[in-house]
Amino acid sequence: MWKALLAKERFFPFFFQQSSTEDFRNIMEKILIIDDDEGLTHFLNRFFSRKGYKVQVCTDSLSALDLIAREPFDLILLDYKVPGLNGLDTLKRIKKSQVKTPVIIMTAYGTTETAIEAMKIGAYEYLPKPFDRKDLSKISYDALVINRQMKEVVRFPQSGGEPSPTAARGALSIIGSSKKMQNVYKLIGQVAEKNVSVLIGGESGTGKELVARAIYHHSVRKDRPFMAINCAAIPDSLFESELFGYERGAFTGADRVYIGKIERCDGGTLFLDEVGDMSPSAQAKILRVLQEEAFERLGSAETIRVNVRIIAATNKNLEEEVKNGRFREDLYWRLKIISIDMPELRERAEDIPELVKYFVSRFSKEYSKPVQHVSDGVMERLQAYSWPGNVRELENCIRRAVLLCSGEIIVEENLIAMERESENCVQGQGKEHLPENLIQKLDELITGIMKIANQDAHAKVMDTVEEALIKKTLENCGNNQVQAAKMLGISRNTLRSRIKKLNEKSYD
Ligand SMILES: Nc1ncnc2c1ncn2[C@@H]1O[C@H](COP(=O)(O)OP(=O)(O)OP(=O)(O)O)[C@@H](O)[C@H]1O
Ligand SMILES: [Mg+2]
Repeated sequence: MWKALLAKERFFPFFFQQSSTEDFRNIMEKILIIDDDEGLTHFLNRFFSRKGYKVQVCTDSLSALDLIAREPFDLILLDYKVPGLNGLDTLKRIKKSQVKTPVIIMTAYGTTETAIEAMKIGAYEYLPKPFDRKDLSKISYDALVINRQMKEVVRFPQSGGEPSPTAARGALSIIGSSKKMQNVYKLIGQVAEKNVSVLIGGESGTGKELVARAIYHHSVRKDRPFMAINCAAIPDSLFESELFGYERGAFTGADRVYIGKIERCDGGTLFLDEVGDMSPSAQAKILRVLQEEAFERLGSAETIRVNVRIIAATNKNLEEEVKNGRFREDLYWRLKIISIDMPELRERAEDIPELVKYFVSRFSKEYSKPVQHVSDGVMERLQAYSWPGNVRELENCIRRAVLLCSGEIIVEENLIAMERESENCVQGQGKEHLPENLIQKLDELITGIMKIANQDAHAKVMDTVEEALIKKTLENCGNNQVQAAKMLGISRNTLRSRIKKLNEKSYD
């Protein structure tokens, strides 16, 4: 039964695993499959098309290279034994013409060595055949996020240049011309091209990740990989293997070599988000990467040399963490060679009109709505509000208002949700309150689901959330239903009936 629940991709689409707003924009991303196995290409074609991607298939490497020279792709799946050139040469040529497009190598069993060789020359990941949907889903989802982060340029007004309050295609902008933001731009400009570590601080939603990406896009490493890892979102036990990789047999379940993010990021930029949550052991290893440019995969004695630039972000007071012995002082100083502190939105209320204009323009395009601007009354309210969730909260507020707006002007009625939020947020400003970024992310998620729900928004949201919750809990409890029911606070029978219901739905 559990297997059936996992196998059910249709009901658990990519968008649920997203981490940030822009991840919703997967519509019409293009995937190229290079393989001569008809059964497999048929499966892959269906698998990705159903998720809303545009898929093309080539059955030999020469025609694929031809196509790649003419058309940009967002992800390429390459069978290593495809007719035409050999796998390594095909990969080299792909990388030459589309340097940032992630390539996933599909290999036959027992050819791990070749696959690792391929990763050294720039393949994103390898998938030994036969693979299951879960691995395919996770690897291709991560690759598409990375593709987007590498290609979607983040602009900022450089050296006194004009900000760009309208949304440019294929680019995000950092908006705001207040004195505080101008200082931020100055710092980005000064550090981007230097190879030093940067530490970005500031409350949740102030734009730390956006700034990290702007630094990457304006650095000399812009054609090298950019990878992000959230130190708080991954359990300690998995974090090190994700970051440093592991050898086959390093621990139970390590049935293949896994190349970690640091190794894949060689020559590039690694974004360590929420760095204050990193375990002491991971802190020690990162320090070694910074000082000696060296690390070992888990379960291996072989030292691997890497050169990565680290940009770290935190909404914790790291100095405080150092004082309390939770964060290594030597690592703190090593990361903080340059630090950028993001101002809270309430400290730069003069930027609100510009931000509103930018978000109205972006979302009206995204949702094909004729919305042009907000009424004077709305603007007054937006400027008077304290924005505990900072720009992320404002962004979501405008996104919702654009969706609710039926004409060209957003009126106060469209801000109903904000009114409710502001009541909650008055007491919600304390840091112990349910983290604002979680509330905001939930909001983004629900908005994303509603976008594709027609008449059944309630059912779709509830079912999706329930399925994810059950799946995660079972995973955390090693698939033990008694424990899972206890953790969820429901009876075992209720849990069983929920799993049954979700399974039945998957075969509708
Ligand atoms: N100055 C800005 N101009 C335009 N958009 C912004 C700006 N600052 C933040 N945003 C948008 O707000 C959202 C939150 O930004 P981001 O993820 O960078 O914040 P963060 O500081 O990393 O938050 P958290 O600490 O919760 O991870 C993103 O969608 C981002 O694009
Ligand atoms: Mg962030």
